[in-house]
Amino acid sequence: MQQEWPQRPVRVERRQVDEAESRHANGPDWDRYADEYQATHGEFLGDIGFVWGPEGLTEAEAGVLHGVAGRDVLEVGSGAGQCSRWVRAQGGHPVGLDLSARQLQHSRRIDEATGVVVPSVVATATALPFADASFDVVFSSFGALQFVADLDGCVAETARVLRPGGRFAFSITHPTRWMFPDDPDEPGLTASQSYWDRTPYVELDDETGVVAYVEHHRTLGDWVALLAGHGFVITDLREPEWPEGHDRVWGGWSGTRGRLTPGTAIFGARLGG
Ligand SMILES: C[S@@+](CC[C@H](N)C(=O)[O-])C[C@H]1O[C@@H](n2cnc3c(N)ncnc32)[C@H](O)[C@@H]1O
Repeated sequence: MQQEWPQRPVRVERRQVDEAESRHANGPDWDRYADEYQATHGEFLGDIGFVWGPEGLTEAEAGVLHGVAGRDVLEVGSGAGQCSRWVRAQGGHPVGLDLSARQLQHSRRIDEATGVVVPSVVATATALPFADASFDVVFSSFGALQFVADLDGCVAETARVLRPGGRFAFSITHPTRWMFPDDPDEPGLTASQSYWDRTPYVELDDETGVVAYVEHHRTLGDWVALLAGHGFVITDLREPEWPEGHDRVWGGWSGTRGRLTPGTAIFGARLGG
């Protein structure tokens, strides 16, 4: 949905965008945004901290990964690696992956500051540069899943690199939020667009007309069908409640909306076999 940072003028459209166009827009976009993102949210995320979203639910509370100690773990859309660093601190063996080199430079910066190092690679969620059955756990905290057009390819790749019985968990904007304007205040509480309209949200550079940012929407039913279709058994669907006294506003997430509607969905699944 709407970007939360001031940037060059953009025009917003809803229109079809393929995987290449999504990737070519979002990589540079996250490179431009990375410094601002880390300056704004780094403290809330914690250098060695695993939160699933703006509500602040931690993996220590949620337990969606069902334990990481001794596990080989891949974080997709790892940003500055805060979650992976927490995994490492729990005795796991994490690797980060992100489309944005600038995000991974921040990851390196925090590695050096904390001494808790997460190896990471620039790549895309739809073509994971790892051998089959390399990981016990793949996760993504608001990472790539809502940014890829080829979600089928992304989940197929996840299943490929997981070992049988491996865990897959990810957080995304709660699909019901698609119905509302991306506004943290009262206007964000009035449904104004169809939940079932999957046409991507697209920002175009106003001067050049080039696609500058893309988000893709799937309904809850789409996610269930997709995971089941790739051999996953869904074990969790968490919809964190807005905590009492939590007054942080993050883009379209706020107490005003969070007290009434879910802003984040966290899926957990196990690969059958
Ligand atoms: C909202 S940030 C979340 C980062 C981190 N998980 C966190 O909680 O701070 C989304 C991240 O996904 C990355 N991303 C977007 N599209 C991607 C793709 N196709 N493959 C891998 N990473 C992607 C972005 O570069 C960005 O770092």
